[in-house]
Amino acid sequence: MRPEIEGAVALLRAGELVAFPTETVYGLGADAMSPAAVAKIFAAKGRPADHPLIVHLSAAAHMARWAREVPAEAEKLAAAFWPGPLTLILKRQPQVADAVTGGQDTVGLRVPNHPLALELLAAFAGANGGGLAAPSANRFGRISPTTAAHVREELNDAVPLILDGGPCPVGIESTILDLSRGKAVLLRPGVIGAADIARIIGHAPEAAAPRETGSETPRVSGSLDAHYAPRTPLALVSSDGLLFALRSALVAGERIAVLAPTPQAITHDLVAWKQSSADPAAFAHDLYANLRALDALGCARILVQQPPAGEAWLAVNDRLRRAAAGSGEDDET
Ligand code: TXA
Ligand code: MG
Repeated sequence: MRPEIEGAVALLRAGELVAFPTETVYGLGADAMSPAAVAKIFAAKGRPADHPLIVHLSAAAHMARWAREVPAEAEKLAAAFWPGPLTLILKRQPQVADAVTGGQDTVGLRVPNHPLALELLAAFAGANGGGLAAPSANRFGRISPTTAAHVREELNDAVPLILDGGPCPVGIESTILDLSRGKAVLLRPGVIGAADIARIIGHAPEAAAPRETGSETPRVSGSLDAHYAPRTPLALVSSDGLLFALRSALVAGERIAVLAPTPQAITHDLVAWKQSSADPAAFAHDLYANLRALDALGCARILVQQPPAGEAWLAVNDRLRRAAAGSGEDDET
């Protein structure tokens, strides 16, 4: 075993936290069978204790150790998409810690598609199929980290080891599909879309009820209205709205940060630009790094030109809407 992985496994077995890369975003991992270790995740993130965590596994073969019912649809989806950016919510085995499930009768499982994560998980799992509980490695409500440097910015001293696997190839969090209710319900959109899921299970998943995607019931913390948020107030605008907002900001003498696909008519010392991609996958890949960079400029506002509507942009638009809702606050409740 490589010394880096050996060191990480030793820390995890001692009940410590290790941050690691996945294909989506960096995770903040702890031994999912140790309530004391899992408690350190909530403390480091400042996350409310009733928000459940995803258990990361080295292979689909370990699903039954964590889930008491593995429906045929789960087996099919795991075979099609794992390792990959899909989390399945299944009925939990009784021994799964309440700290992981937020006291719910279900558990979220996924096998991430990143060589370093898979190496770590395989070394940690051993013969008995252990798993790592890991939320995104950011402070609660803030922008998810897609590089090791972002994790350091977010959590610094709170995590003894950060494994550096370079920038995350996908860039936004996994799709979350609930299969615990005898039907498929899409709780969080991601790069694996409803059509991809329908191809495997023969029908499209239902959309989550509004109460599950609003701020009332934090079944999925990524479903809180205010999430993935920069400290600078962020507004989503049309391309015309962008020009209008820029003109009025410049009249007011405000410094503005902009994320938009095409060079705009106004170039000005007070305006900082980041170019966004016209391709949804590339937009997602750079989204959090772009928001983090624009947030760091200390401008009065971040203006993001709203991407097109439609299925291909669903996950990106979901993250942008929540980033706007939670922006401009010093702390979450
Ligand atoms: O891509 C990802 O999923 C990343 C990487 C690190 O794997 N993880 C991630 O974790 O985004 P986190 O904790 O930031 O978001 C996971 C979401 C949470 O909003 C949580 O509420 C939801 O998954 N979740 C976990 N277990 C659940 C359960 N049993 N029922 C419903 N939602 C659950
Ligand atoms: Mg998160």
